[in-house]
Amino acid sequence: MERSLIVAPSVLSADFSDIRGALTSISDSGTSWVHLDVMDGMFVPNITFGPKFIADIRKHSDLFFDAHLMVEEPSRYVEQFAKAGCDCITVHTEACRNVAGTLDLIRSFGKKCGLSIKPATPVKDLDPFLDDVDLILIMSVEPGFGGQGLIYETLDKVRYLASARGDRRYLISIDGGVNASTIRDVYESGVDVVVTGSAFFKESDRASFVRRMAAGGDVR
Ligand code: DX5
Ligand code: ZN
Repeated sequence: MERSLIVAPSVLSADFSDIRGALTSISDSGTSWVHLDVMDGMFVPNITFGPKFIADIRKHSDLFFDAHLMVEEPSRYVEQFAKAGCDCITVHTEACRNVAGTLDLIRSFGKKCGLSIKPATPVKDLDPFLDDVDLILIMSVEPGFGGQGLIYETLDKVRYLASARGDRRYLISIDGGVNASTIRDVYESGVDVVVTGSAFFKESDRASFVRRMAAGGDVR
């Protein structure tokens, strides 16, 4: 049977002045996840939004909130993001002094925990944490901005994680440069979740786009 991917549109490419419209558009497209890119201007050279924004949009959406914290020392803010209503909180290995402790902290609030690595970080850095994470987010572009091209070498990390999984619970997600041209290779690498920002918001028929992404490029 063909696998179906979870599609997680990123609001990074939405018009923030109409965020409720963007969330409705994501729900109407037939997917159940939204990807929330939190940037602090330190870990990455861009700034987006924080816990108050997420708490405010939580009141208007039943989507699964997949928060991607591109934040230096994120343990300082885990409680606020958990209380804002995130469902999964993903942090970067490169940003944490104590990765295991940060994952424990996320779980202590009853949230799913995720771990992400930048394109230059070896996938083996994740090995000590594979038993403990619900999601692994492979960055397929340099974090900070939408609309960049997918770095194909990062798909090797997905292949490694798919073959190393065994009976562990983690989902493998990929973030950056996923669109109609790249989805076939992304799908075949073994991912479970695809984040898509600019391609989703450029699309006029978003329901059809989500079906195609979920099917790995085949139109059903
Ligand atoms: C980049 C963000 C991504 C971004 C992806 O730092 O983590 O989630 O929104 O955007 P696209 O799909 O445009 O590459
Ligand atoms: Zn992201």
